[in-house]
Amino acid sequence: MKYSRISGTGSYLPEKVLTNHDIEKFVDTSDEWIQERTGIKSRHIAADGETATDMAAQALQRALENSGKTAQDLDLIIVATCTAHCRFPSIATQLQNIYKVKNFPAFDLNAACSGFIYGLNLVDTMVRSGQVRCAAVIGTEHMSSLIDWSDRSTCVLFGDGAGAVIVEPSNEAGIISTHIHADGAHMDLLYHDAASGKIVMEGNKVFRVAVKTLERIVDETLDANKLDRSAVDWLLPHQANLRIMLATAQKLDMTEEQVIITVDEHGNTSAASIPLALDVGIARGQIKRGEVLMMESFGAGFTWGSALVRY
Ligand code: ACO
Repeated sequence: MKYSRISGTGSYLPEKVLTNHDIEKFVDTSDEWIQERTGIKSRHIAADGETATDMAAQALQRALENSGKTAQDLDLIIVATCTAHCRFPSIATQLQNIYKVKNFPAFDLNAACSGFIYGLNLVDTMVRSGQVRCAAVIGTEHMSSLIDWSDRSTCVLFGDGAGAVIVEPSNEAGIISTHIHADGAHMDLLYHDAASGKIVMEGNKVFRVAVKTLERIVDETLDANKLDRSAVDWLLPHQANLRIMLATAQKLDMTEEQVIITVDEHGNTSAASIPLALDVGIARGQIKRGEVLMMESFGAGFTWGSALVRY
């Protein structure tokens, strides 16, 4: 079989919800400012002791059930994350241990918010080359573990969660094309400070680069497939900021109704945001089999990428 396709999805959000009004109580901010500048109303926060591995395991379980597979069917696990609770072993191999499966490749990758798109690129290549027949690609993030709760410029932005997809061979193109890029020259604008353990971001500058870069990546994706904007049914963007997402939609001549939006309730869950939004978009009845999705992301590095997918 020549192609790969997403055969199932799953996601997980921690029970605890932190609203903008909750945050107003401990930093100088307002629900109005946060909603106007970001589109975020609330985000989920992991429970004490709950890790990115725990969240990944939940999302994976749901994706396996959704695709009619079991962990024994898997022959590859890729976990996109930048918030594993320990540096090694990887979350992917921890999942093998949880599910008592072994002898196939399992690894984590860190491309910040673009990690899931990087993972789709790899898995698509591996499925097409015949190396893999049933793969899990998971985005899982414990962003709250990196947050300085006294810094109003970053603490309002992020949330925790996980999303997973199962990818299998197919006679028809499911994953139509993927495009991934990076430019390490601007790392000072957005990074995890090893000394303080916290996120540092010049949000305004990142915002401007993100909007321009995402405009270019959607053009690149359509051009590569010789497709017109009208071929895309849904924009499924990385959920960092509603204003960035709608700027990309405008570029594609798409209305807000054609954008899968979860940032309002999830905040920015980094590498987990696209698979989470995919699963939610399907569960809400928005995304249907056969429809074409433009996934795109931009994150620290800078890294960016897109995946054109027929669901
Ligand atoms: N509440 C109230 N005021 C605030 C808050 C807050 N939570 N945060 C900042 N402000 C203030 C600032 O101090 C500033 O005040 P000043 O004008 O008196 O100096 C004012 O609001 C404007 O600040 P800006 O940073 O210019 O606000 P902006 O409109 O750019 O919004 C935001 C900030 C939401 C961070 C936006 O820039 C953004 O979303 N940037 C991109 C983020 C992103 O996409 N990151 C990549 C992915 S993340 C990853 O890879 C890990």
